[in-house]
Amino acid sequence: MNDSRTLAIEYARQNRERFLKELMEWVAIPSISTSPEHKQDIQRAAEWVAGQLQAMGMENVQVMPTGGHPVVYGEWLGAGKSAPTILIYGHYDVQPADPLELWDNPPFEPAQRGEYLYGRGMSDMKGQVMASLKAVESIVRSGTLPVNVKWLIEGEEEVGSEHLGEFIQTHKDLLACDLSLNPDSGMMSPTQPTITYALRGLMYAEIRVYGPKRDLHSGLFGGAVHNPAQALAELIAGMHDENGRVTLPGFYDKVRPLSPEERADLARLPISDQALLQQTGAPALWGEPEYLPVERIGARPTLEVNGLLSGFTGEGSKTVLPAWAMAKISCRLVPDQTPEETFRQLVAYLEAKAPASIRWEVRNLHNARPAITDRNNIGIQALSRAMQTVWGIPPLFKREGGSIGAVVFIQKGLGAESLLTGFGLPDDNVHSPNEKLHLPTWEKGIEALIHFFYNLKP
Ligand code: BES
Ligand code: MN
Repeated sequence: MNDSRTLAIEYARQNRERFLKELMEWVAIPSISTSPEHKQDIQRAAEWVAGQLQAMGMENVQVMPTGGHPVVYGEWLGAGKSAPTILIYGHYDVQPADPLELWDNPPFEPAQRGEYLYGRGMSDMKGQVMASLKAVESIVRSGTLPVNVKWLIEGEEEVGSEHLGEFIQTHKDLLACDLSLNPDSGMMSPTQPTITYALRGLMYAEIRVYGPKRDLHSGLFGGAVHNPAQALAELIAGMHDENGRVTLPGFYDKVRPLSPEERADLARLPISDQALLQQTGAPALWGEPEYLPVERIGARPTLEVNGLLSGFTGEGSKTVLPAWAMAKISCRLVPDQTPEETFRQLVAYLEAKAPASIRWEVRNLHNARPAITDRNNIGIQALSRAMQTVWGIPPLFKREGGSIGAVVFIQKGLGAESLLTGFGLPDDNVHSPNEKLHLPTWEKGIEALIHFFYNLKP
């Protein structure tokens, strides 16, 4: 059968080595969005992907400024008014790579070992953007795209997409579309294609606790001055009760309860305690006992300590009573919680619980809204059939615990649903050392996307 989709798949297979080389080139650019010292790398990563769009014949390709990092745009509208327009979303920014000493190769010197490519951003999500780019390239180089496509590749996803909402509002006509394809989620396993229908939101805060005006001798003053590290630890310890529930006032008020049907569906997903223990290496699972882990990760809100800093942490010992302590705290949110209200609840908790023996301040660093997508959107059938063709089984539908700010901005600003998918795996070490991409799954992903676009043909 020499139909156009077969030709596109042949093109992808023949060009596999070049695709890998290009992916490694992009991953080598340290586009860490949270670090001001990487501003130039952010620009380079944006221009690099704009170059890819240009080279494969996309039109109106632009690196567009925002209040923060630029957005890369491109389009091909040659399928005409009767065909749907798909907005392909991606992000070219990555998380910081530390602790560097735990990497087996430097995070921005990508390496291939066995079936994997290693490097920061390989799975989350330069690899996923490349899968989409290379699926479209394979189609346009061997035939004709059956749909219109627009590309929206942002550089602030890993810091809460702060300027994307406004960008979408001011470019509504440019970005108008029927559906957003968002490959920033993942698969349950290499053999189980997955479509994600909900994401958690995020409220990220930094708390600082101050005590004495400078570090003190703990022998001379300990016992008379409240230790800020201890005071912060006491405040943090009080943020959960003994059942793992968050104690911020009103925290669960807006949480939409799960229907018995949805709970039954989630309970059937092949996600075992054993697999979670194995993926994480944790000695035991933890959390609200009345919910399954899959619900606790995808459909229940949480509060996490992301980092702690205080006092003497070098080698050896120093008897010091530190002057201050700092914690990075974030909450994963579910519909209908909002980051703004959650931040107010954190402030209310601190106002009620902080002792007079310390001073404190709290800042809201960034936010993302929780999202539920319409499972009847116009791409679901096309993607389900594509996955069935490539993996031999239909996708399962899952709620994910991660956050992608763009989904709600696109829903609200453009009135378009997101089709959330992706070809990353639970053990890809995203946001961790030795982030990796499973190449056999990635290659299947490219083929699935080729089928997806052809399946959308009106
Ligand atoms: N790709 C992830 C989100 C994700 C992870 C979706 C796993 C589905 C499954 C994304 O790049 C990410 O990590 N986002 C940040 C956003 C935050 C900083 C607002 C996150 O979730 O921590
Ligand atoms: Mn991502």
